[in-house]
Amino acid sequence: MQLDNGAGLIPPTEEGLREAGRLLREGEVVAFPTETVYGLGADARSSSAVEKVYAAKGRPSDNPLIVHIAELDQLAAIAEPPDDVSARLMAHFWPGPLTVVLPAKSGALSPLVTAGLATVAVRMPDHPLARRLIAAAGCPLAAPSANRSGRPSPTRAEHVAHDLAGRIAGVVNGGPTGVGLESTVVEVNDGCVYVLRPGGISAEQLREVHPRVETVAPETAEHAAAPRSPGMKYAHYAPQGELTLVAGPPKQTAAYIWKAAAEAAAQGKRVGLLTYAEHADVYASFPGLVQVCGSLADPASTARGLYESLRAFDEQAAEQIYAEAYPEHGLGAAIMNRLRKAAAGRVLTIG
Ligand code: TXA
Ligand code: MG
Repeated sequence: MQLDNGAGLIPPTEEGLREAGRLLREGEVVAFPTETVYGLGADARSSSAVEKVYAAKGRPSDNPLIVHIAELDQLAAIAEPPDDVSARLMAHFWPGPLTVVLPAKSGALSPLVTAGLATVAVRMPDHPLARRLIAAAGCPLAAPSANRSGRPSPTRAEHVAHDLAGRIAGVVNGGPTGVGLESTVVEVNDGCVYVLRPGGISAEQLREVHPRVETVAPETAEHAAAPRSPGMKYAHYAPQGELTLVAGPPKQTAAYIWKAAAEAAAQGKRVGLLTYAEHADVYASFPGLVQVCGSLADPASTARGLYESLRAFDEQAAEQIYAEAYPEHGLGAAIMNRLRKAAAGRVLTIG
């Protein structure tokens, strides 16, 4: 089959999926859409295939990968039987944006997938193309987000092609993803659910299924009793410009951002701003690139557009970027987690 235009876009057709499945069975890496972000898939049982994932991404190999399955009956081959709480979470949220860390079945997966840990992170994505591709490949797929390490995760096939064209066998083109932020990663210990990475399923949603939920803040993860996500220690999602996250009452926040942006613009710097629909008017004559990313009334809309907004700052070569903080409940916790990482410590609280 001819892949289109050198970017390696594979059409989401029966034939395209068959071809992508064949490539995966032959040990190649293929990117594919999930409901959260695009993933970069490889046969999770094959070290030579998984090695290609780390190489294509430029990812440190001590950061383990999530294993994706299409059906519950694939679980027993890769993990030990889950505890009751994990089983309940899976029954409730799968397929969907929840990743559960379970004891790994020894010898079942390439040790590169788990980066030497005794546990494996498993998820069943809620995207028809992802499920059909896993079925076509006939094996569980190890798949991190399909971006170059350190770049915002891809929410469109074009983002994958931009970062990885020429480094991977192809990308199944499923259009824009739905959730826009990665899955929530949890691990259950002694009946308590520890959120290792906030994501598409909120802590509030988890609590509706099981009351004992603890969030492990990245800042304190180092000292937390629960095993933490190795991924937390890496800088992530950073745009090339310097992003400052500004929190506080709307008026004071806007006043601060206007003043700082005017000064930066006066110094000849290219300025960027991340704001939300309710505040767009305040920044009508802003001296730089304004990204209005969804609405404060609808966290799902902001989640969906966040990575694309961060990529837009790079495309416009924004040097000094200001981002307004987002209310931190529900999906807002995952939005703020990604913004804090993008800010790499530059977080200001005004007023
Ligand atoms: O939505 C998602 O989860 C996307 C799509 C493609 O499914 N995948 C994704 O994978 O975000 P990745 O590799 O970018 O993030 C995996 C996260 C990392 O923070 C990693 O440290 C953590 O899961 N993780 C993987 N295995 C783990 C384990 N055994 N114990 C604790 N954390 C683990
Ligand atoms: Mg990632």
